[in-house]
This record gives sequence, structure tokens and C-alpha cells, in this order.
Amino acid sequence: MSEVSSVRVREAMYAGWLSAAVYCAARLRVADHLADGERDIDELAERTGTHAESLYRLMRALAGAGYFREEENRRFGTTPLADYLRTDTEESVKDLVLFYGREVYRAYGALPEAVRTGDRAFDIEYGMPLWDYLNTVEDTGEAFRKGMGAATWTEQLPLPQTYSFDGIDTLVDVGGGTGSMLAAVLHEHPAMKGVLVEIPAGIDLTMRHFKEAGVQDRVELREGSAFDELPAGDAYLISCVLHAMDDEQSVRALRRMRESIRPGGRVVILERMVPAGNEPGLARMLDLTMMLMNGGKERTEAEWRTLFSASGFRFSRAVEMPYFQGGAELYAIEGVPVED
Ligand SMILES: C[S@@+](CC[C@H](N)C(=O)[O-])C[C@H]1O[C@@H](n2cnc3c(N)ncnc32)[C@H](O)[C@@H]1O
Repeated sequence: MSEVSSVRVREAMYAGWLSAAVYCAARLRVADHLADGERDIDELAERTGTHAESLYRLMRALAGAGYFREEENRRFGTTPLADYLRTDTEESVKDLVLFYGREVYRAYGALPEAVRTGDRAFDIEYGMPLWDYLNTVEDTGEAFRKGMGAATWTEQLPLPQTYSFDGIDTLVDVGGGTGSMLAAVLHEHPAMKGVLVEIPAGIDLTMRHFKEAGVQDRVELREGSAFDELPAGDAYLISCVLHAMDDEQSVRALRRMRESIRPGGRVVILERMVPAGNEPGLARMLDLTMMLMNGGKERTEAEWRTLFSASGFRFSRAVEMPYFQGGAELYAIEGVPVED
């Protein structure tokens, strides 16, 4: 007999079922429909436009996993876990669940072919690269952008408290997404100016965040790509962007920063670092997801050092972010220019 049981293998199998069920509940907005109180299954089915008996089976399964609770007479209510699936809660991850549950889940279906051929699973499944798809399929593009905003972290990640941005006049956030991270840094540094560079979609959402943080007068929104000439800055922040790029693209983006950086400047990459050894962790699984979705990768410290030296920087230090949900192995990886 083996020393380990097959329980962990079974758990891995079941995890896929649960993620599909959670996705389905998010898609049907069940948690929203239960936000103001319990409902019986027929009423819930009517509100969600679903088949009552099948919805009952979904809800019962999810109640068993802590997402909802079943009361007498087929009535269901929410739980704290279900609140994360609501549309209107501050810490909602609904949009992320929608993106992971549909596009990412489907891309995983092509994992065997991707591993056999080296081709990108997303492109195999969808017939086009992810970024083209996000610009074509509106609701997914929006869910992705909002989801990434929620995933990346500002409310949860105390970036400006953990990594010091002191002494920077102009901070350029490349691929700044919804802008919540730049807003948080500017909020902590009242004299600092910010520039956010983003590909066109989602700019409205970005401006909203700046207004909410009261920093809109100190920030400039620049439509453009990390691969184009960048505005001059004392520091460049690039958070959760390079892991979606391959090495050649990452070097191209970093070189753009190197060209425009002011004397004494630095670049701050906020990304995961794949640890050595075999300890469990999210980075290695996320690396697989990046490989499937867009040909990107999560990198080891040695790989970050290589990217820096290929683009005119040298690795200076890595500041570990405090642990929070989904944020293990996350670092502010700092590079400083190597003089020509
Ligand atoms: C995962 S999100 C991270 C957003 C933000 N930096 C954060 O940490 O919250 C990745 C962002 O990179 C942007 N992006 C992708 N390719 C880009 C490019 N070539 N130039 C600039 N931004 C890009 C996407 O539009 C998206 O907003």
C-alpha cells in the first residue's frame, strides 16, 4: 500500500466541479438575488430565469461548500462567502470568477494539446489571442478589466506602506488598469504626480478611481502601449503586466522605460516570484495559467535578474508584500538603470 491515500487526487478532481458551480452561481447572479433575504427555490428560479429543479441541485451543492445555506422548504439564504459573488460589495470577486470560470476554464481544456505542441491553449480554443478577444467580446473585456481591478489589490495590498515611494516626483504606472494602485500611491504622497499609461479600453473606469481618491488633478491618463515611447518619469511602476508577456516582449517594455527614465530613477515591478523547491504555492499554478492564456510566465528571481540585465537595468532588491488572499509570493522587484 502507498503511504499516501488518493484523497488529494480526488480533491483535485472535485475542485474543477466546484469552480464550475461557483462560476454558474456568479453568472446567474444568485447572490445578488438573495442579498435582501432568503427566497424559495421557485422564486429564485423565476428571478434568475432558470429551471427550478436544476437550480435547486446547484444551490444544494453550493450550500454544501459554504456558499449558500439551505433552510426548510427549499428556501436559500446567503453566507459570508456568497457576499464575494455579489455585484455591489467592495470586496466582490464576481468579475474575476466570471473570467476564470469561462475563458480560463475553457483554455485549460486544451492543456494537453498545449503541452504537446507548445501552442497557446487560449488561441487553440478561441481562434485568436486573448487581447484581441477581450477587445472583441465586450462583456468579457469588461469583466476582465473589472476583475483585474478587484484582483489587483489596492484595498487589500498596502503597496505604498510596504514599499517606499519617497523621493519620486513623477511616477509612471505602465498598464495601470483601473488606476486604483496609482491612486493609492498618490494618496499617500501628496506632492507626487502620476501618469497612467494604458491601452485604450477601460479609461473611464480608471478616471472614476482617480476622482474617488481625490487625486485627479495630479494624474495624467495616456493612451498607449508599454511598447511605445513612454512619458519621462522618476520611477516606473509596472504591476501584473509583465507576467502576461513573454521574455522578448518584457524586455521591449523594460527598454522603453530605460529610454525615458530620469537620472537616479528606478523601475518597480510588482509580480510574483516562483520560489525554489517544491513547497505548495500559487505562483507555479499561475505560471501554467499564463502559459495557457497569453504566453506569459511567472518568473524566478534569476529570471527577473536576466530580464533586467537584458534591458539596461540591474536588479536592486525585492520587497515582499504581506500575505493576503491570492497575494502570496508577491514582491516589489526594484531595478535601477545601468549607466551606458
Ligand atoms: C492584470 S492587469 C493589471 C492592472 C494594474 N497594473 C494592477 O496591478 O491593478 C494588466 C493590465 O495591463 C494592460 N496591458 C496589457 N498589455 C499592455 C500594453 N502593451 N501596454 C500597456 N498596458 C497593457 C491591460 O490592459 C491591463 O489593464
